[in-house]
Amino acid sequence: MCGIVGYIGLNDTKEILLRGLEKLEYRGYDSAGIAVINEKGVHVFKEKGRIADLRNTVDFDVLAQTGIGHTRWATHGVPSTINSHPHQSASGRFTLVHNGVIENYEILKREYLQDVNFTSETDTEVIVQLIEVFAGEGLSTEEAFRKTLQLLKGSYALALLDDQNEEAIFVAKNKSPLLVGLGDSFNVVASDAMAMLQVTDQYVELMDKEMVIVTRNAVTIKNLNGDVITREPYTAELDASDIEKGTYPHYMLKEIDEQPLVMRKIIQKYQNDNGELTIDQEIITAMNEADRIYIIAAGTSYHAGLVGKQFIEKLAKIPVEVHISSEFGYNMPMLSEKPLFIFITQSGETADSRAVLVQVKEMGYKAITITNVQGSTLSREADYTLLLHAGPEIAVASTKAYTAQLAVLVILAEVTAKSRGMEPNFNLVRELGIIANAMEVLCDEKEEFESIAREFLTVTRNAFFIGRGIDFYVGLEGALKLKEISYIQAEGFAGGELKHGTIALIEEGTPVIAIATQEIVNLGIRGNVKEVVARGANPCIISMKGLEFEGDTFIIPEVHELLTPLVSVLPLQLISYYAALHRDCDVDKPRNLAKSVTVE
Ligand code: F6R
Repeated sequence: MCGIVGYIGLNDTKEILLRGLEKLEYRGYDSAGIAVINEKGVHVFKEKGRIADLRNTVDFDVLAQTGIGHTRWATHGVPSTINSHPHQSASGRFTLVHNGVIENYEILKREYLQDVNFTSETDTEVIVQLIEVFAGEGLSTEEAFRKTLQLLKGSYALALLDDQNEEAIFVAKNKSPLLVGLGDSFNVVASDAMAMLQVTDQYVELMDKEMVIVTRNAVTIKNLNGDVITREPYTAELDASDIEKGTYPHYMLKEIDEQPLVMRKIIQKYQNDNGELTIDQEIITAMNEADRIYIIAAGTSYHAGLVGKQFIEKLAKIPVEVHISSEFGYNMPMLSEKPLFIFITQSGETADSRAVLVQVKEMGYKAITITNVQGSTLSREADYTLLLHAGPEIAVASTKAYTAQLAVLVILAEVTAKSRGMEPNFNLVRELGIIANAMEVLCDEKEEFESIAREFLTVTRNAFFIGRGIDFYVGLEGALKLKEISYIQAEGFAGGELKHGTIALIEEGTPVIAIATQEIVNLGIRGNVKEVVARGANPCIISMKGLEFEGDTFIIPEVHELLTPLVSVLPLQLISYYAALHRDCDVDKPRNLAKSVTVE
């Protein structure tokens, strides 16, 4: 996590850096800092808290045309002003920002830096102190930087200032994302193109183990041996308005509301000229050659994977296993003879998932990444990519990416089924259109969800989500949404499993949110609701039209039975949103979290 920016040009850099960091706050927001360099040297401003807090500490009278900045999600060392970036070498000559984790920092400290006094608890400080030690041995800044990079184990995106050279920012990348943006008499550095869209849409991708010298008029990419690499820039296809909140109070609400639009966009992007859904033939061939599919993902994307398994098994009849990426690496199941891996990741940068991708590629297996971010690490490193086309998702709690993941997974399953000569299971274009309309209906019912959240979740400390079959998976996602933004202890359970232990937790008034969209288990889940009500629970039943019972709390419009998760999750997203609002929580930036989890 963490986000970094840099600017070198003709304008004063502070405002550009601060605005860039505001756009990167989703990557971490426990402390932030900038460093700028002018003829008087380097000036560092840093503060615990948000970018707004940092603004209050910046001396706007200091003018400078070169600078770097950082927003932090703490890994090594508590969130504090001392641990926040930029970090400086002992003499103050070098100033550095870092996103990533240096795994061997303690070894490096012991081996090279015994005599250096450290001021912070971070792994980052080792890097900047090493550069100073090597520069002190007579190496140029570039050489000292490169020598240091050769020693580092782990992940990094780095931007470095040398107070003896106002004319350059030294940059490097390994595993953590980093781009260089190009302008007319200026150049920029950013973890994400969104940060610098304010000044340019032209970017050059950096690959692992590359370093770059960025000056006002040139960008020189080199490998760690010092050989120059040339690479063409690309245009970031982001609309500046996509990353603004507009009239919405929160990004999360905006992104929930965008879901019908995203559905229609996905239909359009995956349709051919004849109106049929289509997917790259190479991907379909890979699906058909596999004897088993392994879906690897984390968090909300993992929950999408659980539903995706149902789609692929029911429609295309290929067995699927779904695994949590942070577990898979060291706890690999017995693999089938011809496995195919599908990585589901909104950001395309999740380190846990990427670690598995690297592992399975080394084993010689094929991989597909389903992601929202074109050009992201997991997209680049997999054999094939399927894009979500959901537009930037900025709220930390994932909403539109989840439903987009489900839509892409069902398209993949149905197109594969068709390629296997199976009868079409349904007219998927039509069904996804119905889903988009149903989503719209739900988005218009916000007052209803606000009052459900008020009634069930204002004072409680905990809540349970229950469902059977595919509804259970949606319950897991509903519980994750609620806990991450409202801090209510929430758990999702298979309805039938409650009585095997968890029912002991049900007390007078405990909210139990039940999802009932599947005919085959409708009576079963109703029975589970009765069991918890008999023990004092306060039940909130969300059912699908046609399956409703008298007294159900909310009835969602009818959609195809297999596709209900695309719709039944919306009430849960909205209820979580309003529960968090009622509890005065920071909806878009919940505590302890970051949008893009780039550390393992
Ligand atoms: C929860 C949430 C996280 C992410 C998880 C994986 O709302 O957003 O659980 O789903 O960190 O992230 P990606 O999908 O970017 O790999």
